[in-house]
Amino acid sequence: MMSDFAPLQNDLLLRTVRGERVERPPIWVMRQAGRYLPEYHEAKGNHDFFACCRSPEIASTLTLQPIDRYDGLIDAAIIFSDILVIPQAMGMTVEMLDGKGPHFPNPLKSPTDGQYEELLSRHVDVEKELDYVYKAITMTRQKLKGRVPLFGFCGAPWTLLCYMVEGGGSKMFVQSKTWVYKYPEESMKMLEKISILCVQYLALQVKAGAQIVQVFDSWAAELSPSASEKFSLPYLRYISKYLPRKLREMGLESVPMAVFAKGAWYALDELCDSGYQVVGLDWLQDPAQAVGIAKGRVVLQGNMDPGVLYGSKEAITADVQEMVRGFGGGKQGWIANLGHGVQPGVKPDDLKFFFQEIHRLAGGVHL
Ligand code: CP3
Repeated sequence: MMSDFAPLQNDLLLRTVRGERVERPPIWVMRQAGRYLPEYHEAKGNHDFFACCRSPEIASTLTLQPIDRYDGLIDAAIIFSDILVIPQAMGMTVEMLDGKGPHFPNPLKSPTDGQYEELLSRHVDVEKELDYVYKAITMTRQKLKGRVPLFGFCGAPWTLLCYMVEGGGSKMFVQSKTWVYKYPEESMKMLEKISILCVQYLALQVKAGAQIVQVFDSWAAELSPSASEKFSLPYLRYISKYLPRKLREMGLESVPMAVFAKGAWYALDELCDSGYQVVGLDWLQDPAQAVGIAKGRVVLQGNMDPGVLYGSKEAITADVQEMVRGFGGGKQGWIANLGHGVQPGVKPDDLKFFFQEIHRLAGGVHL
């Protein structure tokens, strides 16, 4: 039961999300658990990536690794899992190939290939199929003992549809474009189905102990503004509208919601009115301009280029300085983060330096 968890000791991120003035900006980074950490490889061993996600013991261990390593420097954990567990729950096979990323041996080909109707009509028991995620969340909350709040997450419908039709990563998005421009109605039906599953999935994550949730629309940049209005934004809005209703139905309190639509700088104004309390930015967006567009409607999150972490300490300091200034000093309305996930090959101490510089330059304790 949620009430059995230890009280939250560090509520900086949740206070910031509520719009309060804070002593310094809260900090976390996307993909903070992952391949750049030697302890990740050690704990993962020879286990397959999705086997790690399915083991609450391993997933919770991996989630806590950055919290332990950067103790006192970061203010949130994010459950170790993947956005592709929804297509898996829908019945698709997804493998994680070493060094290559996700792979669907049997991607969705066309609305007439049989799999389409099957996926649309099949009832998906999100509670049963993704039971391991909820168990991992509950176990992680127990292990966290209230040190920092825990993020749950899911992939946005548009990004998930891209993976389901491309069968993996893509450069040209040929299949995704074929679907939305040749079969728009059929694409929308699938996007709707995915959206309903996302709401159920996030609600069950909250029930299990997630204290805030984030929706990742990693491939938002593939759509033009008008195409985004058809194939991405309506489904992001659906999730933010129906998740609080679903939680109420389940007798649970609402949690804050964050959206990260990578590359969707053209849609920032719309995203600020899309029902999310937090809007994540990538590094293509100028912080001060984003603040000007958001006008206090949401809390902004981001956005240093993760690639700066390959650079010198001076480069990191300069970028942090610029980011802090751009977001108005960091005492209100900003969650410090990178503009995308931390990459393999980054030295853990360089990421630590990034965290320390934010503490130093945005008004925290000098470390
Ligand atoms: O620390 C965290 O942020 C939590 C864990 C997390 C993972 N994936 C672990 C992971 C989260 C939040 C995700 C989300 C995710 N997964 C997204 C959205 C965020 C983004 O990066 O845009 C996407 C697009 C995916 C799909 C996915 N999973 C890809 C494209 C890859 C390959 C990435 C690569 O760099 O090769 C993965 C694998 C993955 N997900 C790893 C981790 C730690 C690496 C697995 C490994 O090889 O050990």
